[in-house]
Amino acid sequence: MNESESQRALVTGATSGIGRETARLLVAEGWRVIGTGRDHERLRDLNNELGERFIGYAADLSHPGAPDELTHFAEERFGSLDLLVNNAGCSWVGEMAEMPAHSVDALLSVNLRSLILLCRNAVPLLRSSARGQIVNIGSVAAHLHADRISVYSATKAAVITFSHALAKELAPLKIRVNTVSPTGTDTEVFERVGVDIDRDILIPAPDVAKIILLMTQLPDTVDVGELLIARRFTPGQ
Ligand SMILES: NC(=O)c1ccc[n+]([C@@H]2O[C@H](COP(=O)([O-])OP(=O)(O)OC[C@H]3O[C@@H](n4cnc5c(N)ncnc54)[C@H](OP(=O)(O)O)[C@@H]3O)[C@@H](O)[C@H]2O)c1
Repeated sequence: MNESESQRALVTGATSGIGRETARLLVAEGWRVIGTGRDHERLRDLNNELGERFIGYAADLSHPGAPDELTHFAEERFGSLDLLVNNAGCSWVGEMAEMPAHSVDALLSVNLRSLILLCRNAVPLLRSSARGQIVNIGSVAAHLHADRISVYSATKAAVITFSHALAKELAPLKIRVNTVSPTGTDTEVFERVGVDIDRDILIPAPDVAKIILLMTQLPDTVDVGELLIARRFTPGQ
């Protein structure tokens, strides 16, 4: 496949976990990918690993201007887009009464504000693709009403509702919008929030990436809305 035939994706949060595996898989499938994150070194490593089909773009999505700057970069490099994967996310675990305002701000700005603005900005870029689509990453946490992650869960619930409504709005433009909501996945997020977890109950990040790729291969007549991913039931466990 030559460069002009490759599909073009923008994947946020590509320096780690689900986003990194998604970038790897898309490149392996012949896509060209712009991947983002704050960690310059990891972006360089991915560039070395994946070659010229991967373009790293360092951005802190909690900064107000970052979504616009990132979209301009994508437009400059690719002209248009076939896929936007809004995967970057952060969490905070603890008693609500202890949650610092800056952590509330970080969750709202990264998990929700930047996702909304990137969806908005991507519309003109996705319109020129025959199969333009957005995959937003939600979470089963949105449905569990678990304590100590109320703000995280609320951002993900908002992502899911926003995505359902946007799917209707963008349907006449032939742009799909779906949400993939994983259950606990084996990534760095647990270290980042200081939670010790039994990794045996988690699903591997490369498997979530396979589901994200699957979303790009749906028949033309089908959408899933929100796809909840659970760990496969294992008798005796
Ligand atoms: N792991 C799970 O159990 C699980 C379950 C359900 C849903 N999810 C969702 O899946 C998505 C990916 O999470 P993950 O589990 O793969 O976590 P992860 O390994 O911690 O990766 C998070 C990614 O988001 C990026 N990121 C975080 N804050 C950012 C910021 N301010 N600006 C730009 N990028 C930022 C990180 O990049 P830098 O550090 O380089 O900035 C990293 O690439 C998230 O939306 C998460 O909520 C995860």
